[in-house]
Amino acid sequence: MRSNFSKPRGTRDILPEEMEGRRKVEEAIRRVFEGYGYREVQTPTFEHLELITTKSGEEIRRHLYHFKDKSGREIALRPELTAPVMRLYMEELSHTTKPVKLYYFGNCFRYERPQSGRYREFWQAGIELIGSPYPEAEAEVIALAVYALKGIGLKFDLQIGEVGVLREILGCSGASDEDQAKVMNAIDKGEDIDILLTEIGIPADDRKLVYTISGLVGGKKTLEKAKKLLENNEGVMARLERLSRVLELLEELGVTYQLNLGIARGLDYYSGVVFEVYAQGLGAQKQICGGGTYTLTDVLGGEPTPTCGFAFGLDRVLLALEAQTGMAPVKKTRVLVVPTSEDLLEDAVKICSIIREYASCELELMRRKLSRALSYANNEGFSFVIIVGDEELERGYVVLRDMEKETQREVNIKELHRIKF
Ligand code: HAM
Repeated sequence: MRSNFSKPRGTRDILPEEMEGRRKVEEAIRRVFEGYGYREVQTPTFEHLELITTKSGEEIRRHLYHFKDKSGREIALRPELTAPVMRLYMEELSHTTKPVKLYYFGNCFRYERPQSGRYREFWQAGIELIGSPYPEAEAEVIALAVYALKGIGLKFDLQIGEVGVLREILGCSGASDEDQAKVMNAIDKGEDIDILLTEIGIPADDRKLVYTISGLVGGKKTLEKAKKLLENNEGVMARLERLSRVLELLEELGVTYQLNLGIARGLDYYSGVVFEVYAQGLGAQKQICGGGTYTLTDVLGGEPTPTCGFAFGLDRVLLALEAQTGMAPVKKTRVLVVPTSEDLLEDAVKICSIIREYASCELELMRRKLSRALSYANNEGFSFVIIVGDEELERGYVVLRDMEKETQREVNIKELHRIKF
């Protein structure tokens, strides 16, 4: 049957099998988040436009879904959850003891050009750690992302950078905050920054420095190289020292990484250590996680508060798992209860509710006769069928049929709860 309607471009329908796989992955991620002491929050799907546009950056602003509601308020569908979660923190939790550790799962909306792994509605799972100004907080946030992804069996590469380094070099060369954001945005998109740097008026030597630093990718020695190049810039050196400490702690935690001082992130609120995770086996849209230290509380009207966090792109995480492991659909044990006549319907319903106390179970709802019910169960992949028949019921029994082994036996109804489905 075809409908006259199709789903909007860039959106997806998720069918039961995929949904089961998703929920399993979400559960595993949730367990790791909670294992580190994070607690779940939920925010509205739409927010005031201004919250979203403050410090989010040009890239996000260009891709917003926004509209005026019937009272003329400017509203935007959330393109990410960091700004909404920080608004929630400031409205509800700013007086609580630090650190505040929050996690979330939610759908986000960006009017981007759809392609594999890039959608207009997609899901993020993320955390925000609020209140600790120390490098161990940043190291723990990065380690948490790594352990959550390892926990679901994904192969990936982690890159760590520091957005303040490039920003500070640009600032020292006279670039305004706005111009710095433009350059960072261009670097994030992989665009050539030559003309832009010249237009902004960055002197030739500093232009060269920006190129060199943004191209520094590698192991520990890369950091030493950067320190040599920037030893005269006190502010930048302090940033590199801090980054060094984060990397040492990560090594202690057994996390492998690559340093990339060219990571610019697409959002303007980042202010320090940043990181991105790329999944092996995905095409152009291989970035499955992005995060870092950011500054938002003060621009949202509150006290400056140290904050860092990250978000996984759940859809990409699932695509990557499928590409890497061919993730088979989760096989759940299904049990079908079939009454042999309409008179036994009430007994069948009772038996369903006994089993549902500890396993999932379905009642035959199409009133199929037994033989047709059995072939239906076979075709649909039910593992067990419970046949509720007159004669057995009188003795307090039902028939349990194992569909895989093609065997059956009588089971006392009082003993049903002992069966391991
Ligand atoms: P983001 O890098 O913009 O960061 O998004 C996080 C992840 O969402 C990306 O790494 C990607 O996997 C996924 N994603 C983004 N756009 C799309 C899309 N159109 N379709 C599918 N997946 C997409 C943030 O949103 C920050 N709020 C992360 C953060 C939390 N930073 C600090 N705390």
